Amino acid sequence: MIIAIDGPAGSGKSTVSKMVAEKLGILYVDTGAMYRAITLKAVNMHLDLKDADRLIEITKNSDIKLLHDKDKGFSVLLDGKDVSKEIRTPELTNKVKFIAGVPGVREEMVKIQRKIARSGQGAVLEGRDIGTIVFPDADRKIYLNADFKERVKRRHKELVEGGQKIDYAAIKADVDRRDRNDMERKVAPLKKADDAIEIDTTKLTIEETVEKILSCIK
Ligand code: DC
Repeated sequence: MIIAIDGPAGSGKSTVSKMVAEKLGILYVDTGAMYRAITLKAVNMHLDLKDADRLIEITKNSDIKLLHDKDKGFSVLLDGKDVSKEIRTPELTNKVKFIAGVPGVREEMVKIQRKIARSGQGAVLEGRDIGTIVFPDADRKIYLNADFKERVKRRHKELVEGGQKIDYAAIKADVDRRDRNDMERKVAPLKKADDAIEIDTTKLTIEETVEKILSCIK
């Protein structure tokens, strides 16, 4: 069973996708974490983030693993090293667009994502292009959305809880920029697949959203 969950930043995708995967006893594939991991590698190698050929090359030569440990939770391994924290800083987040905008990088990513998803009993994949590109024939497609203001609030809370001090206006600008980058890019832009079920999570709790998704699946 393949469940595709797409939506903009702050729509609740990550938390909800993890819980849905757990309830169904299938894999959780955070595709954003994969784009983040390659961005981190490019930054650490001091690559020119506009050098598409080099970015494709490092994507082909990278080993990205998404692990799930009952006690430690989810972690991302890049070439054997745990990079779960490093890939979430605001500085790194702002650079992902360079990597996510390269068609050749995306082709490699899609191959890896399909392979991971097919390695188990099924998977919940979360991202921007899952229902449109990665699994256009997914068993269920969900498009999560929420009001802009609510998404900014959630992102702020997430960063504060993660120990980062960033002011509200900066986060607002950041979410707006990410929306535009994700929706307006030429390759695999974020959009709702025609056959996806759209859920507005603005007024829903996490549990309510999970229930809604599960009711669409059963
Ligand atoms: O889901 P996230 O915020 O961790 O994703 C980080 C960035 O990665 C996001 O701004 C766009 C990119 N991304 C993408 O282009 N395609 C995906 N399937 C997932 C993420």
